[in-house]
Amino acid sequence: MALHLSSACFTVLGNYQVQKIRAIASDGSATLRTEEEKVKLGSSDLKVTRLGIGAWSWGDTSYWNNFEWDDRKLKAAKAAFDASIDSGITFFDTAEVYGSRLSFGAINSETLLGRFIRERKGIDPETEDSLGRLGISSVDLYQLHWPGVWGNEGYIDGLGDAVEQGLVKAVGVSNYSEKRLREAHEKLKKRGITLASNQVNYSLIYRAPEENGVKAACDELGITLIAYSPIAQGALTGKYTPGNPPSGPRGRIYTSEFLSSLQPLLNRIKAIGGNYNKTPTQVALNWLIVQDNVVPIPGAKTAEQAQEFAGALGWRLTDEEITQLRSLASDIKPVSGFPVEKL
Ligand SMILES: NC(=O)c1ccc[n+]([C@@H]2O[C@H](COP(=O)([O-])OP(=O)(O)OC[C@H]3O[C@@H](n4cnc5c(N)ncnc54)[C@H](OP(=O)(O)O)[C@@H]3O)[C@@H](O)[C@H]2O)c1
Repeated sequence: MALHLSSACFTVLGNYQVQKIRAIASDGSATLRTEEEKVKLGSSDLKVTRLGIGAWSWGDTSYWNNFEWDDRKLKAAKAAFDASIDSGITFFDTAEVYGSRLSFGAINSETLLGRFIRERKGIDPETEDSLGRLGISSVDLYQLHWPGVWGNEGYIDGLGDAVEQGLVKAVGVSNYSEKRLREAHEKLKKRGITLASNQVNYSLIYRAPEENGVKAACDELGITLIAYSPIAQGALTGKYTPGNPPSGPRGRIYTSEFLSSLQPLLNRIKAIGGNYNKTPTQVALNWLIVQDNVVPIPGAKTAEQAQEFAGALGWRLTDEEITQLRSLASDIKPVSGFPVEKL
């Protein structure tokens, strides 16, 4: 059954004494007052930080990292993990398919995350081989990575079984349409189990969940919307420009032409950020966080990126700024999403 569960979010280091670290004022990051910054996942009993960290790029050679994984990238990913924990962020998103063995030179993201956790706890990283064998008691949220073309009822039954068997504390889905979400919620509810989350592509420039009924259904049913690609894979950070688009597969999505259309929005994001001493990345993430039922999980490759994410917490854009940014963003033709969200 667990094999059906291809995406997993973990809250980690439940018993670990989170090291309180200094605020890094220069880039606007801050140490979280963790309890204040935590939010319940749907109507489950699970509380997570208002922002999680995505670990898709850790060990991956099929989409990220210019198709290569090496020691330098490993050290940077480990530093990103440590910086997240130091900032009080204890919610990580990984999946069985990230860093797939089918991809040359890749290392599985779950295995890397398990290693980072053990190293952090001072456990010999070589004594165990995977998160499962480590026996971490705080593997809290399991999500189906995407709907199957068939067999969905069985997958949802599997999620329910995992809860009843005490294997996980909460369950969720990912890339589920409104219809599938309602069906999954109803099916689990009949067993007295809550559907905690739906993890979907959601950012200022990819607002399909607002238009296809997913966000409204999450709000209505008390399901947390976990937003993946919340900074549009780097496009909303301001780092990429028409003259400097991202390399690799991302460059085919966030083309020079697309990045040109993004500039008016980015200029406004920068101006608003200036009023709060915040970076565009922090503004783009705050835009999601202030919508109370949304938890973004930006991907961090380095400690600096993870530290910057923490600075998206603890302050709020005004309602007027949120509306203004949405309105400016609606002038931009969105990139194509992941087709499975329409299944
Ligand atoms: N359930 C699903 O189907 C699904 C699908 C996609 C993603 N996810 C999850 O969501 C997570 C996040 O999504 P994502 O990785 O697609 O996109 P994202 O979080 O929007 O973008 C992450 C990328 O942006 C760049 N970046 C990060 N911080 C930055 C900063 N402070 N300044 C400048 N650039 C920065 C980095 O790449 P560079 O430094 O190379 O620019 C990083 O890899 C993933 O890691 C994964 O866990 C789930």
